[in-house]
Amino acid sequence: RQRIILDVDTGVDDSLALLYLLASPDAEIMGIASTAGNVPAAQVAINNLAWLELARAPEIEVTLGAAEPLEIPLRTTEDTHGPHGVGYAELPAPTRRISDRSAARMWVDLVRRHPGELIGLCTGPLTNLALALREEPELPRLLRRLVIMGGAFDHPGNTTPTNEWNIHVDPEAAKIVFDAFSAAPPDRRPLVCALDITETIEMRPAHLIRLAERAGSHPIEKVSPTDPPAARSAASNPIIRYLTDAVRFYFDFHHGYDLGYLAHMHDPFAAAVALDPALARTRPATVDVELTGTLTRGATIADRAGMWGRPPNADIVVGTDPVRFFDRMIARIGDH
Ligand code: BDR
Ligand code: CA
Repeated sequence: RQRIILDVDTGVDDSLALLYLLASPDAEIMGIASTAGNVPAAQVAINNLAWLELARAPEIEVTLGAAEPLEIPLRTTEDTHGPHGVGYAELPAPTRRISDRSAARMWVDLVRRHPGELIGLCTGPLTNLALALREEPELPRLLRRLVIMGGAFDHPGNTTPTNEWNIHVDPEAAKIVFDAFSAAPPDRRPLVCALDITETIEMRPAHLIRLAERAGSHPIEKVSPTDPPAARSAASNPIIRYLTDAVRFYFDFHHGYDLGYLAHMHDPFAAAVALDPALARTRPATVDVELTGTLTRGATIADRAGMWGRPPNADIVVGTDPVRFFDRMIARIGDH
């Protein structure tokens, strides 16, 4: 089994990433870092605990991350993920408590205890990982692999014309992380799932219905833009019920931006790649983060031709098979 540290800002698609890992027999989550991003860190931690209890995996440690990005005030996006981060769903209040150690402390402790073994998966802003790197500069060498959902390269941003959300929330942290890997050997370079690839992973109502069917959940409801927005799912399986309410909000959000009645599965795709890099075709690049541009601050720039004279510090995912990804996600979460 592959051992994972999950750093998330749960979040609708983060929720699916978490459930994907919990449903994967080849994965063992060693700890969860709750990162401020889509919603405040304290709400993220509550969401993580609630999903763990619903999935009957309550023993996994959930730590709380920094309340604010490194140098700027926190910006959250309830418009995208709903008032509590899980769309229209109202998850049952968790009974278990958040860990006493901080998220950054957990990163450092875990990588020191399991050198060369752990896969780090970041599906939110990189604040906690940057804080952990300040304390343990050897972290890039102590990890087996790092997978990041973040950035936009030859693709418009989803937050500003050039910014992807996770990088936008804490650009200083993102720069610290990419800089920390500047001397990493090729097999330790972070795998980066940017919008260029994650916006090709389009979940549609038909996927949700297939997932419910696979989970044996009845009745299978209609999911369409004509549904009353806050209608509660009637699915019999509680996880499917909450997921449907969460994802329906995410569909409505994308629909509101004229993207179609669909939702981009940024974070579960990154989770799938973390467990199975063969799902992704990659290209090495030197990635840096713009911190000063008046129009472009928070943009991720990739040098693929060595023009900066700096070695690659990332492998950017440039191709995948979305059908294969959805088949796998539906099978895993549906059978769990
Ligand atoms: C990223 O932003 C968040 O809103 C999503 O959860 C995803 O991690 C996509 O830009
Ligand atoms: Ca996220």
